[in-house]
Amino acid sequence: MTGSSGNTGRVCFITGASSGLGKGLALRLAREGYAVGLSARRETLLAEVADRIQEEGGTAVSFPCDASDGPAVVSAIRRCEETLGPVNLLIANAGMSLNTLVDSFDAAGVEKVLDVNLLGAVYATEAVLAGMLDRGDGQIVAVSSIAGFAGLPMSAAYSASKGGMTNFFESLRIDLRGTGVDVTVITPGFVRTPMTDHNRHAMPFIMDLEPAVELMVKAIRKRKKSLAFPWPLAGLVWSLRVLPRPIYDWIASRIDRTKAPEAGGPPGPPE
Ligand SMILES: NC(=O)c1ccc[n+]([C@@H]2O[C@H](COP(=O)([O-])OP(=O)(O)OC[C@H]3O[C@@H](n4cnc5c(N)ncnc54)[C@H](OP(=O)(O)O)[C@@H]3O)[C@@H](O)[C@H]2O)c1
Repeated sequence: MTGSSGNTGRVCFITGASSGLGKGLALRLAREGYAVGLSARRETLLAEVADRIQEEGGTAVSFPCDASDGPAVVSAIRRCEETLGPVNLLIANAGMSLNTLVDSFDAAGVEKVLDVNLLGAVYATEAVLAGMLDRGDGQIVAVSSIAGFAGLPMSAAYSASKGGMTNFFESLRIDLRGTGVDVTVITPGFVRTPMTDHNRHAMPFIMDLEPAVELMVKAIRKRKKSLAFPWPLAGLVWSLRVLPRPIYDWIASRIDRTKAPEAGGPPGPPE
């Protein structure tokens, strides 16, 4: 850990900070003066992100843990608060994708996706919420997905996890009105990260990482209630919700199933 000349005294804890959007947000928010607590499973990658932030004059400390291990998440955030101070901004971003295939249907895979994507964000929220309420100030950012707008083919677990996440944090946002604790729900479309690198299917309107992070940081800074991007894809997927279901099923079933990856999910450490 090193001090930073532009340190604002504000602390941000980011899950899934070892790669992709989480790493991009960590680098960007450190430049905004946040002291950053970095979390994910891959310690070496986290250390590289922390080193880069420190080289740029920022403050970052790694708190590795598995997002699906509730007590480990709470302990990581407690240690972050002891080291850097109270967390003002939580970014619940850790996530995994995994195809749900009907001919090799596996409830354990579904459980894993829900544990990491949905419950992981809930555990992190438990760790910060009471402190934020006591201080009357805080912001929780849920990195969900437009995949939560509708049940997408071959994505039952992922769509369920992200639909659950969006609704969970939307409920919380309403319940927290007037407390000083804001909730921002972000639903990205496709962004070039290690998660999408393995996709062989079409990814319409895919965005580069930098502009995606820039949009997210703007929404975070303005404490917006929600952000869906890129708007053409977000609008399209959102409009699918209101279609009569026979028409939706017909459109969604046009997706070429032969292009599903052999094994879904982003690269990660051995389980
Ligand atoms: N890229 C897109 O097109 C896109 C679109 C919509 C939503 N999203 C969402 O954006 C978030 C970030 O994804 P990304 O695209 O940046 O993918 P990524 O580069 O694969 O990053 C995923 C991050 O989540 C962490 N993670 C995964 N499983 C974990 C676990 N069990 N415990 C702790 N950390 C875990 C990974 O770290 P370790 O492997 O080191 O643990 C990594 O830091 C995800 O929630 C994803 O669903 C992405």
